[in-house]
Amino acid sequence: MNTDDQNLMEASLLTLADRDHGMPQELFEKFIADHPQYAPLFLNPEAARDRMTRETLEVMLGQAAGEWWVDHTVVNFIDLHKNYADFSPQDYAAWFALVINTMAARAGDSWPEKASAAWQRQADMLVEKVAATEAVTGTAQQQPLPS
Ligand code: HEM
Repeated sequence: MNTDDQNLMEASLLTLADRDHGMPQELFEKFIADHPQYAPLFLNPEAARDRMTRETLEVMLGQAAGEWWVDHTVVNFIDLHKNYADFSPQDYAAWFALVINTMAARAGDSWPEKASAAWQRQADMLVEKVAATEAVTGTAQQQPLPS
């Protein structure tokens, strides 16, 4: 648990206010543009994008709060994605970074100082959990983690 990060993250979400409208669509368009190799896997982005965005934010907040269900959730979303492909820890890191940067850009000057660092710290821990889970279940693409 990291109460400082949790408080900063929750405060930063409030600064987004109604500027979160359309964010899942923006995230998907950018993510697919940055990863054209995955474009064919997104069969029904309209159906998936809200859920994928919401569950990403939930697991990051849950990680900061030290919630008991975070490890199960990581296993569950890795399993869920096996229906589409074996995504690497780097793919998850890129998605988390995109989510953080997009929230900060939308909030603009209201975004609290150090909020992005707090979100990123939790993202880094989740990416480590993804890598550890995939190593056990044998689905990791063998690439070094970003340093
Ligand atoms: C913490 C990170 C992520 C979470 C919590 C998450 C969660 C989800 C959820 C809940 C869905 C909807 C599944 C359904 O409705 O059946 C989904 C779909 C999907 N996700 Fe993720 N996701 C994450 C990261 C990623 C990453 C990094 C990729 C890599 C490309 C990815 C690729 C996909 C694809 C291809 C679909 C199916 C979309 C479609 O059917 O159009 N996800 N994800």
